[in-house]
Amino acid sequence: MPNKIFFITGIDTNIGKTFVSLLLMLAFKQKGLNAGYMKPVETGVKINKDGSKNYLDGRYLKEEGKLTTNLEIITPYTFESPLSPYAASKFEDKTICIKEILFKFYELNRMYDYMIVEGAGGMLVPLKKNHFVIDIARYIDAGVILVTKAGLGMINHTLLNIEYAKSHEIKISGIIINNALNENDESVLSNKKTLLEYTDVPILGDIPYIQNRNDLKDENLLKKFALKYIDIGNILG
Ligand SMILES: Nc1ncnc2c1ncn2[C@@H]1O[C@H](COP(=O)(O)OP(=O)(O)OP(=O)(O)O)[C@@H](O)[C@H]1O
Ligand SMILES: [Mg+2]
Repeated sequence: MPNKIFFITGIDTNIGKTFVSLLLMLAFKQKGLNAGYMKPVETGVKINKDGSKNYLDGRYLKEEGKLTTNLEIITPYTFESPLSPYAASKFEDKTICIKEILFKFYELNRMYDYMIVEGAGGMLVPLKKNHFVIDIARYIDAGVILVTKAGLGMINHTLLNIEYAKSHEIKISGIIINNALNENDESVLSNKKTLLEYTDVPILGDIPYIQNRNDLKDENLLKKFALKYIDIGNILG
């Protein structure tokens, strides 16, 4: 049975997990399917003077994806320190409870056809003592989508992540190449083809660098990008 729960991880922080999550959500929407979003733990979240939290990824997806769920459910754990969740939780003396994350996840999961859950950083970012962020994907039985870069080094990073997932019984649904770093070295043209010689994991998307920052906020353009650059047919199975 095709997966309905996707966990978005990346080969690094800032690789475009949130942007890919948004495009994925818009692609589902255009197929008439509603998709929810969760970012279980977010670090580097500033507290405003009025005590409200300056959610980053959660707020972006809520606004651009027009989600009605409140931010406390989308992101149950926030930390001000721009550290890994484990380091931030030790620093701020606040424990991350996995049961609490799962409780909120299942609450959301009941409301939507599809769920998109974004990790923090990459797979082996420490979540809490003896847990990595990618363990959440296992607990919610998600298919993992790995966001990777387009240029030199992408084959190594991508294959290492896939290797980890396969050897730790983590379901990997596919790879999405996102050229967030605007790489244009010679390897960009051949990386996709070469990568497929080394893995049977499908490439579910190939997103170019979007030059104009305004395009990243243009609803109609984003919808077009979603269907153009994400292989939603393959994802739906
Ligand atoms: N294809 C793209 N073209 C242009 N800019 C992009 C693209 N993808 C992502 N970006 C930009 O790159 C930056 C990082 O992207 P994003 O926030 O999605 O990364 P992330 O992996 O979710 O980061 P984090 O680890 O902090 O959650 C953002 O400013 C985003 O707008
Ligand atoms: Mg993000």
